[in-house]
Amino acid sequence: MSLKVVTVVFLLATIVVASDDTSFTYNGFQSSYLYLDGSAEFTTNGMLKLTNHTKQQKGHAFFPSPIVFKNTTSGSVFSFSTTFVFAIRSEFPNLSGHGIVFVVSPTKGVPHSLPSQYLGLFDDTNNGNNSNHIFGVELDTILNTEFGDINDNHVGVDVNELKSVKSAAAGYYSDEGFKNLSLISGYPMQVWVEYDGLKKQIDVTLAPINVGKPEGPLLSLSKDLSPILNSSMYVGFSSSTGSILSSHYVLGWSFKVNGKAQQLAISELPMLPRLGGKEESKVLIVGLPLILLSLILMVALAVVHVIKRKKFTELLEDWEQDYGPHRFKYKDLSLATKGFREKELLGSGGFGRVYKGVMPISKIEVAVKKVSRESRQGMREFVAEIVSIGCLRHRNLVPLLGYCRRKGELLLVYDYMPNGSLDKYLYNKPRVTLNWSQRFKITKGVASGLFYLHEEWEQVVVHRDIKASNVLLDAELNGRLGDFGLSRLYEHGTDPHTTHVVGTLGYLAPEHTRTGKATTSSDVFAFGAFMLEVVCGRRPIEKGGESGSEILVDWVYNCWKKGEILESMDPNLGANYRPDEVELVLKLALLCSHSEPLARPSMRQVVQYLEKDVPLPDLCMLSLSSNGLTFGLHEDFQDCPMSYPSSMNRPISHTSSIVESLLSGGR
Ligand SMILES: *[C@@H]1O[C@H](CO)[C@@H](O)[C@H](O)[C@H]1NC(C)=O
Ligand SMILES: *[C@@H]1O[C@H](CO)[C@@H](O)[C@H](O)[C@H]1NC(C)=O
Ligand SMILES: *[C@@H]1O[C@H](CO)[C@@H](O)[C@H](O)[C@H]1NC(C)=O
Ligand SMILES: *[C@@H]1O[C@H](CO)[C@@H](O)[C@H](O)[C@H]1NC(C)=O
Ligand SMILES: *[C@@H]1O[C@H](CO)[C@@H](O)[C@H](O)[C@H]1NC(C)=O
Ligand SMILES: *[C@@H]1O[C@H](CO)[C@@H](O)[C@H](O)[C@H]1NC(C)=O
Repeated sequence: MSLKVVTVVFLLATIVVASDDTSFTYNGFQSSYLYLDGSAEFTTNGMLKLTNHTKQQKGHAFFPSPIVFKNTTSGSVFSFSTTFVFAIRSEFPNLSGHGIVFVVSPTKGVPHSLPSQYLGLFDDTNNGNNSNHIFGVELDTILNTEFGDINDNHVGVDVNELKSVKSAAAGYYSDEGFKNLSLISGYPMQVWVEYDGLKKQIDVTLAPINVGKPEGPLLSLSKDLSPILNSSMYVGFSSSTGSILSSHYVLGWSFKVNGKAQQLAISELPMLPRLGGKEESKVLIVGLPLILLSLILMVALAVVHVIKRKKFTELLEDWEQDYGPHRFKYKDLSLATKGFREKELLGSGGFGRVYKGVMPISKIEVAVKKVSRESRQGMREFVAEIVSIGCLRHRNLVPLLGYCRRKGELLLVYDYMPNGSLDKYLYNKPRVTLNWSQRFKITKGVASGLFYLHEEWEQVVVHRDIKASNVLLDAELNGRLGDFGLSRLYEHGTDPHTTHVVGTLGYLAPEHTRTGKATTSSDVFAFGAFMLEVVCGRRPIEKGGESGSEILVDWVYNCWKKGEILESMDPNLGANYRPDEVELVLKLALLCSHSEPLARPSMRQVVQYLEKDVPLPDLCMLSLSSNGLTFGLHEDFQDCPMSYPSSMNRPISHTSSIVESLLSGGR
């Protein structure tokens, strides 16, 4: 059911990424997949809110895939065109800060930038440096003499610096002559930015939302962008606030290379909050009609909803045709991976083989996952993965760039993670081991990614297969959760029900094996096993040894009971570690491994403990309040300095060990 809801959304955003005619259109950003950082976020009704009514903030939003801007033969920048609708809301009617910039940048996001007058675009060291390769069109609402601003309400073209190449006071040309516009009026306005690659001309046009595109541009200049832009660039927005509480919104956005950006469907754009405060007396007077009106509206909306759902069911059949995040050409993927050559193979898992690739034109590195045709539920997994990942965005999740489907072959294209999967650094005599601060950072990162899946997105996503080999490391060694092939979407609050157990032995919670139900608490259990892996540098279950399999959690538990929990730490960590942090992670892992799902912390709590915002509760205390921690083989907490209250009966079934559950119930 949740799949349907998400998919409807794709109807609003049409995206086509091809070699030299990339285009996309967002009429609202409901569940869209954009790269966001800083204060940028999506509102529940689908607005892109770059700054959130706070001071000294910057926010960036970028189309997630790089765009080819140059003809590789001639080296000149293609024509491109974009249009967007924005609105600026400030705490004062006559003063706001600092503005919005449409940006073309060599990077996703603008890392070296400051808020306030720097507009989140540059900082005091790189402003004016030709190696920035940044082109921007600013809607600037503050007069900064240091950057030669003409006034506090202007539109300017910026190349590598905040001093505009050319600027004009905000307004537009109508039949009756020039009309002033106030950028901070709070009302939505539309901007068009067009670059003619032949004439080397930039036109910028501004208008109120309801008047259409004026004949003449507000600003026009001759400038060849070829020396400025790189071949592969990202497009997006930057915004910043200074000392005045302001919010910067983008309501719709359309972009196209080598052509005219598709017109925005103004009537479909999300509604801004009403300007001004509540007018209570009026509400009373017009109360009844309003209620009637809203009832009618609600019925109408429900009807539209049903129609859209119906539309979805039909779309599922040819799902791959127009919708979904981005569609790649099979030819390009085949070229990128040199025909899926064995040499390019990065790995293979339960759901298919993963190849490294370099996209032919943009030279972007990707990881292409080929879902095996034999895979029992290939198509269903594929659709689930596309739908869920396509909409998810978090710095600790591996971004899905797009997909391709051909003759039953399913391919998923991900950002390439240069440092591979985490397990390679942990066991099997790793060539490189990670130090404590790296491991701690990865643990915190994965926790926040999982917290996002569980609680921060609009639907609960149960990952189902948390483990070190599903955590990939990006260039900065951030841990990113990958492989959402097993995810299912659940609406918040509904009871997840599944028929078969998926996951990996050693990470499966006892109740998950028993009931077949994956829940957020079974994810927390797996996350506990993951934390032990990271700290101890061992698999959750090691085969061999005299006693058969060795269970990591039991061993750590026994070390803790002896008061020597640090003994279980990976010897490769050496002496350079923080004992308090190691102990924190190990104890938290034990807590997450509790056989009683209700006794495990939520991911929100896990994040709070790891961030040291909240102290970890005493494990002994917990055993009293929740039927005991039952990690080991019928272990008790006799060594705790507390005695059990006599009223507390510990049911025998609860003391059955994880080991038993795992070995009997696992696949
Ligand atoms: C605004 O965004 C910043 C940065 O993400 C965040 O710290 C802050 O809590 C947000 N403020 C509000 C009012 O949402
Ligand atoms: C690229 O430039 C070459 C030479 O100027 C031209 O022949 C070709 O058509 C251009 N390609 C595109 C896609 O514009
Ligand atoms: C803005 O308006 C406030 C009153 O609403 C006034 O006190 C202030 O002087 C005005 N500032 C400017 C720069 O016009
Ligand atoms: C952009 O191009 C310049 C030279 O053409 C190069 O030095 C720079 O590294 C490129 N930037 C990125 C981010 O690729
Ligand atoms: C411009 O930036 C480059 C790379 O960040 C740096 O090497 C160079 O020194 C900078 N130039 C100036 C004039 O600051
Ligand atoms: C438009 O704004 C300019 C200053 O930016 C001002 O000089 C001019 O009088 C304004 N025109 C109207 C019609 O308000």
